[in-house]
Parts: sequence; structure tokens; C-alpha cells
Amino acid sequence: MNDSLTRRCFLGSTSTATFLLAAGCSDGAKENHGSDKEKNGMAYSELIEARRSVRRYAKSEISKGEIERIVADALNAPSWKNSETTRYYAAIGENTRERLRKDALPGYNAANSANAAALVAVTFVQGESGFNGGSPANELGNMWGAYDCGLASSYFILAAKNRRWDTLIMGIRDAARVKEILGIPAGETLMSVIAVGKAESKPVKVPRRPVADVLKTV
Ligand SMILES: Cc1cc2nc3c(=O)[nH]c(=O)nc-3n(C[C@H](O)[C@H](O)[C@H](O)COP(=O)(O)O)c2cc1C
Repeated sequence: MNDSLTRRCFLGSTSTATFLLAAGCSDGAKENHGSDKEKNGMAYSELIEARRSVRRYAKSEISKGEIERIVADALNAPSWKNSETTRYYAAIGENTRERLRKDALPGYNAANSANAAALVAVTFVQGESGFNGGSPANELGNMWGAYDCGLASSYFILAAKNRRWDTLIMGIRDAARVKEILGIPAGETLMSVIAVGKAESKPVKVPRRPVADVLKTV
């Protein structure tokens, strides 16, 4: 890891720091009390190790302001021509959150996201990212919207972790039910539902492939 990448987020305005800011190292964290580290966020290397999918949550609540701060950080994600077509629908009220969990998630995802403070549906607006004036710019068409949404989602989960929230991306969900419950317009494609909450215990890291399996240097 580049040494500069491990510097604390609050150090400055270099391009590295800009990336770290995108990973959630924002200021004004009203719900981040405690040590300097808690106030200023984690080093990037620490952050990506700390973020794990959490499938058992302790009961907690999250405020609208805190979700707004996480989304504000996630908005630093790159997107096709800065089209920013990712949309977030955050169910933080118990009624909608529970309806979503019980009616739109399969049993195991419903059980694993029990007690999460928020369920956040993530969508993208069709026909914009990867399009020029209504025509697809290349063979991938709306896949660019999905690509941007994935990037935005990874910023979102890292931003959440940086603010001491755990997450679970759930791609297995009933899209029609999620869209109906949250009133998501037909012109948006639902990607995932992300649980946001407090881990009941420290999650274990799932092993990763060796770099040589995924990287070809030419
Ligand atoms: C697009 C996507 C869809 C996923 N869908 C689910 C899901 O429906 N249920 C689940 O328990 N985990 C789901 N996951 C979590 C992955 O299983 C998890 O990220 C992976 O095993 C790596 O573990 P880690 O996130 O703890 O590093 C999903 C992750 C991604 C990126």
C-alpha cells in the first residue's frame, strides 16, 4: 500500500486525500463522538480491512442526517460523464423497514438483516449513464448505469464503515416488491438493498484470491 494512502483522512487536499474523503472521511460528524480517530475516520488500509458483510445486527437506530452524510460521501464516486444516476431510498422508519425486510427479502436475507437500522435500496436512472442524447454510446448500454451504481455502492459501504456503521449488500431481493413498497419509478433499475446497522460481533474476513489469480501485468 502506498504510504500516502495510509495517512489519515484529515491530512489535506492531495488527490489521495480526495479519494479518502470519498471513502467517507468527512467532517461534521455529529454522531461521531469520542476519540480523534473516531472523529476523523480510519486510514484507508484500515477501513478496507474493517469493512465486512455483516449478517447479525444489534438493535440500533440511524438518523436521517447520518444517512445523508453517508450518501454525501458516496456522491464522490466517479460516474459516466459525472451523470450521477445512482439513487438511494433509505427506509429508516420501523414500519417501512420491516415491511421491506419481511415482504421483499428472501428468508435468509430477512433474518440476516434483522435489527439493521436502515434498509437502503440502490437504483440507477436508465438511459443516461453510457448514453449520448438518448442513444447508447457503446455496446454496454445501461450496463454503465449498473457499473456506476456498483461504484457508488462501494463508496457508500466504505463511507458507512468509516462512520462506524456496518453493512450488507443484498442482491437477492424481490425487485417488484421493493419498488412497490418504496415507490421507485419505472425508469429506475433496482440493484441491491443494503442493510446498515451495528454488528453484533466482529465479522470474520472471508478469504480472498491471491493477486496473481486476478492480475495479468503485460
Ligand atoms: C452485488 C452483491 C450482491 C450480494 N448479495 C448478497 C445477498 O443477497 N445476501 C448476502 O448475504 N450477501 C450478499 N452479498 C455479500 C457477499 O456475499 C460478500 O460481499 C462476499 O462474500 C465477500 O465478503 P465481505 O463483504 O465480508 O468481504 C452480495 C455482495 C455483492 C457485491
